Amino acid sequence: MTTDNYVIVTGATGAIGVEICRALCRKATPLLLACRNESKANNLIQRLRAEFPEAKLEFLSLDLADQRSIEQAAASLNGKSIAGLINNAGVMERNFRLNSDGREMDLSVNYFNTMNFTEQIIPMLSNGSAIVFTTSLTRFLHRRLPSEISVNESNFSQLGTYGLSKRLITDYASRLSASLAYRNIRVNCADPGIVDTGMITMKRWFDSIADLLFRPFIRKPAQGAEPALRAFAACDSGKIYCRRATHKMPAPLPEMPTIKPHI
Ligand SMILES: NC(=O)c1ccc[n+]([C@@H]2O[C@H](COP(=O)([O-])OP(=O)(O)OC[C@H]3O[C@@H](n4cnc5c(N)ncnc54)[C@H](OP(=O)(O)O)[C@@H]3O)[C@@H](O)[C@H]2O)c1
Repeated sequence: MTTDNYVIVTGATGAIGVEICRALCRKATPLLLACRNESKANNLIQRLRAEFPEAKLEFLSLDLADQRSIEQAAASLNGKSIAGLINNAGVMERNFRLNSDGREMDLSVNYFNTMNFTEQIIPMLSNGSAIVFTTSLTRFLHRRLPSEISVNESNFSQLGTYGLSKRLITDYASRLSASLAYRNIRVNCADPGIVDTGMITMKRWFDSIADLLFRPFIRKPAQGAEPALRAFAACDSGKIYCRRATHKMPAPLPEMPTIKPHI
């Protein structure tokens, strides 16, 4: 058991995640790197320790495509005091793919299991702590949502389904912001903008052209981490932190849509 107040960063090994961790290490924040790939996470811990010798860093095994991994991760935290949660992990699948629970992968990782993991962590969070969710401009592809959602091979699309997952997690964040106000837990979203990471590779014929003409002009991962860091440090709740501006989260839907598992 430890008395350190850890902040959990999911997807710490990703391009934006690394920069979030570096910035928090600079502030001597103890970190739990919640990642699916242990050797990648240990490699990152070594690199961060070389840069910040005093850093308190621990690995937390977490595969957001797997419900059991979420339960095991939460169980392994027993006794730790958690000072914050930065939900940064995310995927954008090229093709329709299911996880072991029969859920479409983008919805599973970016929405369903990010929500499940957060629900498991909330009881361990100290009052006055912060939760951040990572949204995306693609959420605007889904201004309205039906009460029942089903994603299958025929209606899946790379940007559309990814955007749906980000729209849903933004809605959940809005709901949570109101429900955790009594504990003074601040819940905000970060919208990184378009950032030069592996995530924006469309795995199509035009990637090499886009890499040449587009990538040099978009935000670097350290810049992409800024909205999450601002969202985490914010005194208020219920906001979406973007590149420059900050917006109020839209009011949550009257009811959370039902997501039908794929059969
Ligand atoms: N790049 C952009 O333009 C952009 C724009 C808007 C929003 N975002 C969001 O920003 C966040 C960070 O993305 P990024 O651009 O830094 O991309 P990235 O480099 O691909 O990082 C994604 C991270 O998520 C982790 N991850 C993926 N599936 C996971 C799973 N099943 N369980 C646990 N972790 C998992 C990855 O783990 P591994 O390291 O093991 O692969 C990686 O650490 C994501 O939520 C993304 O949706 C990015």
